[in-house]
Amino acid sequence: ELGPYSHFMQKEIHEQPRAVADTIEGVIDAGEFSAELFGPDAAEVLEGIEGVLILACGTSYYAGMTARYWIEGIAGLPCSVEIASEYRYRDAVANPKTLVVTLSQSGETLDTMEALKYAKSLGQERTLSICNVPESAIPRASRLVYYTRAGAEIGVASTKAFTTQLVALFTLTATLAKLQGRLDEAGEADYIDALRRLPGSVQHALNLEPQITAWSEHFAPKEHALFLGRGVHYPIALEGALKLKEISYIHAEAYPAGELKHGPLALVTDEMPVVVIAPNDSLLEKVKSNMQEVRARGGQLFVFTDADSNFHPSEGVHVIRAARHVGVLSPIIHTIPVQLLAYHVALVRGTDVDKPRNLAKSVTVE
Ligand code: F6R
Repeated sequence: ELGPYSHFMQKEIHEQPRAVADTIEGVIDAGEFSAELFGPDAAEVLEGIEGVLILACGTSYYAGMTARYWIEGIAGLPCSVEIASEYRYRDAVANPKTLVVTLSQSGETLDTMEALKYAKSLGQERTLSICNVPESAIPRASRLVYYTRAGAEIGVASTKAFTTQLVALFTLTATLAKLQGRLDEAGEADYIDALRRLPGSVQHALNLEPQITAWSEHFAPKEHALFLGRGVHYPIALEGALKLKEISYIHAEAYPAGELKHGPLALVTDEMPVVVIAPNDSLLEKVKSNMQEVRARGGQLFVFTDADSNFHPSEGVHVIRAARHVGVLSPIIHTIPVQLLAYHVALVRGTDVDKPRNLAKSVTVE
């Protein structure tokens, strides 16, 4: 079953070009973003919405955080993202014209299911489930469904389910943008084209594995690590930190790079490796000055950037470059190296990669 791979997690990381391609197949075949991708009566649910509320846990929550940047930036709709176990127990202000999106790979996460029930009890009936398991509890309780087609995920740490959630969320964003009159034909064609090229770009990122393996020796002896990102890549820093802590048991934290000076800089020493997600986007210069703050305190930097950036390795600054910057879909590409880093660090530390201690694949308890 594992083929050439040592663990399910490694296999599932490498399945991502296929998983992504399968998840966008419907859009590519249609050649357009249309409400029908979300179900036969989706137009009626999606039209006239005034905002989006995303509810999820763990890795799925980080996919939701990424989507907020897209939904507000591209579709122009207010979007909030909330941890399901928090939302369900607070007195939330509900708007029946809000689209409530639950993200759950398994479709069985109790906290997310209860948050959905609570959202409905507040009169929010426009519900969409993005899920990887057909006919599981959460899609059954939702009006609209979009299935990611990652295939069965066996490793407890989610990998291909996360990137396919991002692809589904981008498809949702573009569909909402179109319904809001914010996506013209040329823009739509550009996004379809970007999606069509995505599996190839994911494969390029996977080809960085030997370089990332070389980095793992730096991390394995450490007990702490910091992950930094800005904008749409901040949730990817969070995802990288979660993967590392889950499977290698190294304590890892993620911060928006601009927050460093407001506290976490106090932690930085040469014993604290700092991973930076620094693609060549409009925030790169800002990220660079945040990196100088780290270097000035002796921190070792491990930077994931892309080929176009004018970034060079130097004393204490290690650099791995992905291929060309892929625009709005960049967070999907930058997820790959942080998954591979966690995997290879865990291998060096000899932990049980596919079954990390204390964790379950599907969390059906509170
Ligand atoms: C981490 C991980 C978990 C899940 C979370 C929600 O790698 O897999 O954080 O993302 O338990 O699970 P789902 O998406 O099934 O609701």
